[in-house]
Amino acid sequence: MKYDFDYVTDRRNTDSLKWSKIEYMFGREDVLPMWVADMDFPVARQITEALRKRIEHEIYGYAFPNSSVIEAVIDRMQREYGWKIEPEWVVFTPGVIPALHAAVKAFAYPGDEIIIQEPVYYPFFPAIRNNGCHVANNQLKLINGRYEIDFDDLKGKFNPKVGMRPSRSRARMMILCSPHNPVGRVWTREELIRTGEIILRNDAIIVSDEIHCELLFKDSKHTPFASSSKEFEQCSVICMAPSKTFNLAGLHASSIIIPSARLRNRFNEARDGIMPSVNILGLTALEASLPLR
Ligand SMILES: Cc1ncc(COP(=O)(O)O)c(C=O)c1O
Repeated sequence: MKYDFDYVTDRRNTDSLKWSKIEYMFGREDVLPMWVADMDFPVARQITEALRKRIEHEIYGYAFPNSSVIEAVIDRMQREYGWKIEPEWVVFTPGVIPALHAAVKAFAYPGDEIIIQEPVYYPFFPAIRNNGCHVANNQLKLINGRYEIDFDDLKGKFNPKVGMRPSRSRARMMILCSPHNPVGRVWTREELIRTGEIILRNDAIIVSDEIHCELLFKDSKHTPFASSSKEFEQCSVICMAPSKTFNLAGLHASSIIIPSARLRNRFNEARDGIMPSVNILGLTALEASLPLR
């Protein structure tokens, strides 16, 4: 057996948000906290071993991602998705949600509309609003039990609206959730290409939150948004992290792939102003997770 998913770990009194805040969240203690993507399984042995080795060094100064963690990201993209990426495209943040905040700060102006597809993971909203921008909702359509993208509405979202308040400006950016939380759709390559063509036609930017890309049913296949064409690479920011797949959320480490130097410079400038570097144990765990399946 590769992993033991039957062993029950008692996480009470371990400073776990999920288990320590039950009363606060639900007003009672006798419920199972199933509101957050945080699993009750120990991490893979290889990750614990890498962390143990790092801890034995006993010095935890400021961290800097070395070439081996970048190589591990490159290998994973090639192996899992056949997507060839370059070392300089990879940057790191202490989580995907901080990356979304940095992206909005980097690529939008206060007053801009930013497109999202509701229903969607709730932290997308503060990432937009806390930067003085407005949510433009390209509502997903539930058709025969499956959520679909409303492409006509998406096209319309990029057009300035008649009578639009002067304090609002048209959308230049979309935050995609791929695979989508909470509707559970793994967007097909065709759907991503249709979306990307609309983005290109409107000279816009897509920030694709792909944190759930490795938690799929066997017959599903994830396509990193930018991997479909060279043009898509130049207008996209791809956000990935091992935190969901390998249960590492508390270590706050994510890899953000930004092929365009212009976008990457703007992103790095925004990121450096508002958040610390990835913590040293997070980088160790991220690197140790990348060769795993
Ligand atoms: C779609 C999505 N994005 C981001 C996150 C959280 O990202 P992070 O903890 O890396 O900020 C989650 C957590 O469940 C999520 O579902």
